[in-house]
Amino acid sequence: MLVFVGAALFACLLGAATGEGCCTPDQWQGVQASTSGYVYHHRPSVVQGLVYVVYDYTNKRSASFANYTSEGKTRRYRLVQRYVDDKEGKLYVVDLQSDKCYQKKLKRPFRKACVPDSAQKLGAFYMGAGDNKVDAVAYKAQVKTEHYKLDVSLSVTEQGCIPLGETVVGVARGVPLMETVGFVNIEPGIKDPSVFDIPKECEETFPALIMSGLEHDYNFLVV
Ligand SMILES: *[C@@H]1O[C@H](CO)[C@@H](O)[C@H](O)[C@H]1NC(C)=O
Repeated sequence: MLVFVGAALFACLLGAATGEGCCTPDQWQGVQASTSGYVYHHRPSVVQGLVYVVYDYTNKRSASFANYTSEGKTRRYRLVQRYVDDKEGKLYVVDLQSDKCYQKKLKRPFRKACVPDSAQKLGAFYMGAGDNKVDAVAYKAQVKTEHYKLDVSLSVTEQGCIPLGETVVGVARGVPLMETVGFVNIEPGIKDPSVFDIPKECEETFPALIMSGLEHDYNFLVV
């Protein structure tokens, strides 16, 4: 469920143009390490996420292998997002314990990973020290829609707009939450494009015609 909240969140981040933002490179992969705290039906929860992500804006697709741990239990998922045209895509989520596939039509354009132009620059800083320094820039942004009221802090490297961190605080669909994400071990480019293949768990086990035959869709008497 958190997976979908996350995906929906990012969808709202695109802002109006003021020219302050930047976009990450078109193709990269790396690790998103997150901690999310939220209160759902009066019950506070914490979820730790460790997610390998592969981002391909050039071909409008993304893939991830995600481990979410809460109360000592880890759930593992594989996610693939694919777009055939600019308007409509499909999200495949495989629960790697049950090998069950969940599919969802995405009726919005593929989201480009950017600091929105509506973001306000908070300032420049660096991580590391001396010769091992990385210059970075921090921003803040707001998401205010019917369902989301969130303050977002973002940081990216000054050179190349490589993601470093993202923190979200607020209320999403009635759920108070705080989430912090660190981006580590980012590599430019894509090592293995087969991660974008439709997961085998999501393929139809029988061709549609055989399936409707088995279900006797078109018969009258056959049970
Ligand atoms: C998730 O957990 C599995 C099994 O422990 C491990 O093999 C895999 O590398 C983990 N994936 C991530 C993204 O940490």
